[in-house]
Parts: sequence; structure tokens; C-alpha cells
Amino acid sequence: MRLQGKTALITGAARGIGLEFARAYIAEGARVALADINTDAVAEAATSLGPQAMAVQMDVTQQASIDAGFSAAIAQMGKLDILINNAALFSAAPIAEIARADYERLFSVNVSGTLFCMQAAARHMIARGDGGKIINMASQAGRRGESLVAVYCATKAAVISLTQSAGQNLISHGINVNAIAPGVVDGDHWDGVDAFFAEYEGKAPGQKKREVGAAVPFGRMGTAADLTGMAIFLATDEAKYIVAQCFGVDGGNWMA
Ligand SMILES: NC(=O)c1ccc[n+]([C@@H]2O[C@H](COP(=O)([O-])OP(=O)(O)OC[C@H]3O[C@@H](n4cnc5c(N)ncnc54)[C@H](O)[C@@H]3O)[C@@H](O)[C@H]2O)c1
Repeated sequence: MRLQGKTALITGAARGIGLEFARAYIAEGARVALADINTDAVAEAATSLGPQAMAVQMDVTQQASIDAGFSAAIAQMGKLDILINNAALFSAAPIAEIARADYERLFSVNVSGTLFCMQAAARHMIARGDGGKIINMASQAGRRGESLVAVYCATKAAVISLTQSAGQNLISHGINVNAIAPGVVDGDHWDGVDAFFAEYEGKAPGQKKREVGAAVPFGRMGTAADLTGMAIFLATDEAKYIVAQCFGVDGGNWMA
């Protein structure tokens, strides 16, 4: 049990990678607050994980919602050791068709949400004086632009940059800030990505997923479970000297 006695808050944990992280953390002995804008789904997800899980209604674009969500989680769990900034939105469009509202929506969730959840966690961790771990979900998309994915790629580049700055700023308080950059991970999120490419590249439903999976050097798309090892490791003391880094967990996709 590598996270025995630890408490974590995971944003965007009603489904997908965040929910899998919550399951993995609980299996390692942690208590986890699953935070999500989707109230019904996050309540159901927390119930499915048992008494070590609690549901928190949180919209990471709203400061009052962040404040209330962190307060509720800390009140119920007694403290917060680990934050995973996982909530994010995806969109795709050619440059000529990007809508300002879409740009603002993605930056509000993926970038502002990450920054101000880091701030909420850091304020608690600094006041408590016992360090902490913050893990931001970046993406291979943050390491280079993509023709139809300008806005999402830019948000994930910003997440990598925020990780570098916060990592340097917070390590003097014993708070490690690092990021994970997945490649292509199958699930609801990628069903949406597939639908975007079906529209913009004229592909049949499911075709883009088959193509990207076949192109991964490992031989398939990732699963949420492929990412849990890194998420657990970064939350342990084994990772205490790791600061401001972004780790690819992508079956070799980025190198390819
Ligand atoms: N799936 C992939 O291929 C992939 C690849 C690289 C990076 N990532 C990153 O991993 C993370 C998880 O991805 P996923 O595939 O599980 O995504 P997902 O779309 O399945 O889940 C995202 C969750 O975030 C929640 N959310 C959305 N807006 C919110 C808001 N304003 N406040 C709180 N919660 C909100 C959603 O309700 C949802 O439960 C994301 O940061 C994503 O960018 C995913």
C-alpha cells in the first residue's frame, strides 16, 4: 500500500482517466475526493468506489466552486496531500474556423482550472507545512502543435509551462509539482476526438481511432490503467526529488 494514510483530490474524476486514478489510489490505501462538474456522474462514480471515495461537485472554471470544493474535501478528509489536475475539454477545428467562445471555454477549464486548483491546494499545503504532491495532466499535444487541434494543444503547452513554474515555486514548501503527458488513451474522450476527425477529415466513425492505435509503437492505444503506475509513483516519497517535470506515458507515440 504505497499511499496508505494519504488523501487526494482528483478533478474531472467522474469518468475516464480521473476515475481510474481514483480507483488506483484507493487500492493503494488513499482516500480520494472525486471532483467533477457532472454532479450525478461523480456521485455515482464515488459510490462505486466505496467508503474511501467522496464526491465533490466542482466547476474548475469558477473560483467559488473551487473554494467550496476544496473546503468540503479537506473538511471531510481532514487534510489534502495530493492534487491531480485532470479535468479538461478537447476541441478541434481548422484555424479559419476556431470560435473565440471555444478558445475561451478550453482555456478556462484546461489552463485557468489547473492554475487555480493548484493555488487552492498549495495554499492548504503551505499552511499545513507538511509538503504535498501536485500532478497536472498534460498531453503529447502540449509538446507540439497539430493542424486541426490548435486550441487544445496550446492549453496543454500552457499546462506544461505552469508545471515548470509552479514546480520551481512550490518545492521550497516540499510540494512536488509534475505532469503526465499521455499519448492516445481510449475512452469517452477519444470517442469525441474520433467524432471531430470524422467531421473534419471525412473519416468513418472509428476510423481515426484505428489509425492512431495502429501508429503507436507499442501497438495499440493506451488505456487509463496504463497511466496509473506513473500517477502513483509521482504521489509517493520515491518521487520527492522530481520537480517541474513532464513525463510521457504513451507507448512510444511521441517519439514516433
Ligand atoms: N484520453 C486521451 O487520449 C488523453 C490524451 C492526453 C491527455 N489526456 C488528458 O487526460 C485528462 C483526462 O482525460 P480523459 O480522457 O479521462 O477525459 P474525459 O473527457 O473522459 O474526462 C474529463 C472529465 O472532466 C470533467 N470536466 C469537464 N469540465 C469540467 C469543469 N469545468 N470542472 C470540473 N470537471 C470538468 C468532465 O465532466 C469529465 O468527467 C485530461 O486532462 C486530458 O486532456 C487525455
